[in-house]
Formats: sequence, structure tokens, C-alpha cells
Amino acid sequence: SPSHLVLLQVNARACEVPAAPGTALLHVLRNDLELNGPKYGCGLGECGACTVLIDGVAARSCVIPVKAAVGREVTTLEGLGSRQCPGPTQQAFIDCQAAQCGYCLNGMIMTVEALLRRNPNPTEQELRNELHHNLCRCGTHVEIMQAALRAVQ
Ligand code: FES
Repeated sequence: SPSHLVLLQVNARACEVPAAPGTALLHVLRNDLELNGPKYGCGLGECGACTVLIDGVAARSCVIPVKAAVGREVTTLEGLGSRQCPGPTQQAFIDCQAAQCGYCLNGMIMTVEALLRRNPNPTEQELRNELHHNLCRCGTHVEIMQAALRAVQ
């Protein structure tokens, strides 16, 4: 379908992007808004690499049409903090050196962030359940869990 101007609210900024309404939100974030925190992994909603927050809730942006984000607040990894000034969840992952290849980390961090926003004091089991659906091919789950637990503190 033809491109329209889509008005989005991303990381507390209003942005207007030309996009067909059915375009995946991930595509618009990365290609039009140059927000490369969210990653393209499977494109099928299965790996979690593309996770963003929509109205504070974790969402897989590779399977969400951009039109579904209109009128809602989209937060990407970039919205949690910067390289110079990481947010607390990002800092926990840095402290624990949780990255190996790093490709899954966006999804891990955004998933933990979403959980903490609705439950500031989750148990280890609750963290585990939440992260269960985020794939990491390097096998750094031990470090990722340490980082997730640190983010709760
Ligand atoms: Fe979206 Fe894998 S890229 S879930």
C-alpha cells in the first residue's frame, strides 16, 4: 500500500515518517528513525531481539505494524539512556558484562525494563519466566540472569 505520513511518539519525541501503515514498526525505527537499539533477528516474533516498549509494555516490533503504534508511546533502548548516561537496567547489564555477541541484549534489557515497570521487585523465577522467550545463541544466560537480578537492586 502507498506511503502515508505516520505520526509517532518515540522516546518522548514526536516524529513524522512516510511509511505504508502495514510496515513493521521495527523497520521504521531502524531505517527511518535510525534507532538501531532494536535488532532484526527472526522477523517472526519469536526471538525477542526487536523488543521495544509500547506504553511501557514489551512488544516485538518486527511483527507490529507501524499503524498500531500511532497514539501510543514507543520506547526503544535509546530511550532508556545513552552511552554517556545509561539507565539503571542498562547499567546492570554493563556491570555484569552480560554481552557476548550482544545481538540479543536489546531484547533482554527491554524485557527486564518492562517487567520492572509493572513489578519493581520481581523474584528470580519471575525474571526467568520473563526472559524465557528471549533467545540467546551464545549461551550467556548465566550472565544475563546476574544482570537481570542486579537491575532489580
Ligand atoms: Fe522480532 Fe525476532 S526479530 S522477535
